[in-house]
Amino acid sequence: MTDNKKIYIETYGCQMNFSDTEIILGILDENGYEITEDVNSSDIIFLNTCSVRENAEKKIFKRLNELKKIKTRKKDLIVGILGCTAERLKNDLLEKYDIVDLIIGPDEYRKVPALLKNRRETGEKGIAVVLSEMETYDDILPFRKNGVTAFISVMRGCNNFCSYCIVPFTRGRERSRNAGTIVREAEELVRSGVKDIWLLGQNVNSYRCEGIDFPELLKIIAGKLPGVRIRFITSHPYDLSDKLLEIMAEHKNICKYIHLPLQSGSDKILKVMNRLYSAADYLRIIQRARNIMPDVGLSTDIICGFPGETDDDHKKTLDLLNEIKFDSAFTFAYSPRENTEAFELGDSIPSEIKSERLKEIIQLQRNISLEVHNKMLGKILNVLFESRSKRSDKQLMGRTDCNKSVIIEKGKYEIGDFLDVKIEKVNSATLFGKVTGITND
Ligand code: SAH
Ligand code: SF4
Ligand code: F3S
Repeated sequence: MTDNKKIYIETYGCQMNFSDTEIILGILDENGYEITEDVNSSDIIFLNTCSVRENAEKKIFKRLNELKKIKTRKKDLIVGILGCTAERLKNDLLEKYDIVDLIIGPDEYRKVPALLKNRRETGEKGIAVVLSEMETYDDILPFRKNGVTAFISVMRGCNNFCSYCIVPFTRGRERSRNAGTIVREAEELVRSGVKDIWLLGQNVNSYRCEGIDFPELLKIIAGKLPGVRIRFITSHPYDLSDKLLEIMAEHKNICKYIHLPLQSGSDKILKVMNRLYSAADYLRIIQRARNIMPDVGLSTDIICGFPGETDDDHKKTLDLLNEIKFDSAFTFAYSPRENTEAFELGDSIPSEIKSERLKEIIQLQRNISLEVHNKMLGKILNVLFESRSKRSDKQLMGRTDCNKSVIIEKGKYEIGDFLDVKIEKVNSATLFGKVTGITND
C-alpha cells in the first residue's frame, strides 16, 4: 500500500505528549507513512490529547466537531484520538463521536500501524487502551524536526496519586528507561546539531533503572556531553534530593533551572491534595537550592479553588509566593476530574471566587516576575538562541541557563548560537538585550 498514507498529528497538553507524538511519528515513518503538516491534504488525522482539566478536553471535543466537516468531504479520512483522553474515556469516545475511527492510549502506540491497516482493510473501528508497567519505547527512534532543542522521555507514568490529578489514571504506573539507551539517543541528537536536551518525566525524581537514580543519570549525560545544555522537568518536591542539587551545581552544562510545582501554600490543602510535603518543607528545598546555586531559576504550578480552600488558605498561597519570589508560575483553577480522590469532595468553591483568586495570583506573580527581571537589567547573560521571535522575523528568541526568554535583533546571528547578551529592557515575561560576545560554551 503506497497511497493514503499521509498522516497529520495535532498535539495538546504537556511536553510528554509532544515527546510521544515524536515517538508515534517515528513508528509511522518506519512503516512507510508520509508526515504532513497540512491537515487538509492528510489521509489520517490524529489528535494526541490531554485530560488534565475540563477545559483541555473541551478544546478536543470542539476540534472533533470541526473535523466533521473534513470527514464529510473526504469519506476515507481516518480520525484517531490518542493520548490521555483516549485512555480516560475509552469506548465512550467511539459512541459519542461517530467520526472517530481509532482510540489509542499512551502505552499502545506500537499498535498504530496495525490498527490503521485493519481499519483500512476491514472498515472496523479500533481501540487499544491497555496500560503497561514496562513500555518505555526505548528502542523507537522518535521523528523530530531538526532543531536546537530536543526532548527525551526518561520515565513514564506516575505513582503519586495527588488527589486532584487524572495523570496516574491516563498514564499508568511509573517505569524508567534504561540509561544506556537514553545516553545513546542524546549522543545521536548532539551529532545532528541539538544543543539543548530536556529530560522528561511526570516526576523525574522517581527515575530509577538498574541501580541508577536521576542525579546519577544527569551526571552521566552531563559528563558525556560537555557544551550541551541539559534540563529536566518535572520535579516533585517530595523526593527532590540534596544529591540532585549538588550534581546540578557541579556541572556547568546542567541548567540551573527547576520547575517545582507547589500547588498551594496552605498545609491543610496540601494534605488533602496528598502532596506529602508542608509549606515549610517546600521552603527548605528552595533555600537549599538557592544556597547551592544562587542564580537558580525557579518556576511552579499553583491550583486555586481546590475544594475547601478558604480565603485564609488562599492568602497563605499569596504569602508564600511573595516570600519565595518565583521567576514564573503557571496557575490553574481547580477542575474536578472523575475517578480521582478529590472528585468525591465536590467542587465547593464557586467559579467566580476561583476566577478572582486566579486573577489575584496571576497579578501578584506578574509583579514578582517583573521585579526579578528588573534585577537582571545591565547583566550579561549567556543565551542559546533557539528560534525566530514570534513577533518578528528580524529577531531571535533564546533562553538563558535559568530558562529566561531573551530577544535580540537577528543581525548576523543564527539559531543555535550561544551568545553573551547584555540585558537592556525587560517585562514580566521576557528580557531584551544586545549581543556583547560569542561564546563557544
Ligand atoms: N507531573 C507534574 C504535573 C502534571 S499536571 C507534577 O506533578 O508536577 C501539570 C499541572 O496541572 C499540575 O502541576 C497542577 O498544577 C495542574 N493540575 C493537575 N490536575 C489539575 C486539576 N484537576 N485541576 C486544576 N489543575 C490541575
Ligand atoms: Fe499528577 Fe501528582 Fe503525578 Fe504530578 S505527581 S502527575 S500532579 S499525580
Ligand atoms: Fe495532559 Fe496527559 Fe500531560 S493529561 S498534562 S497530556 S500527562
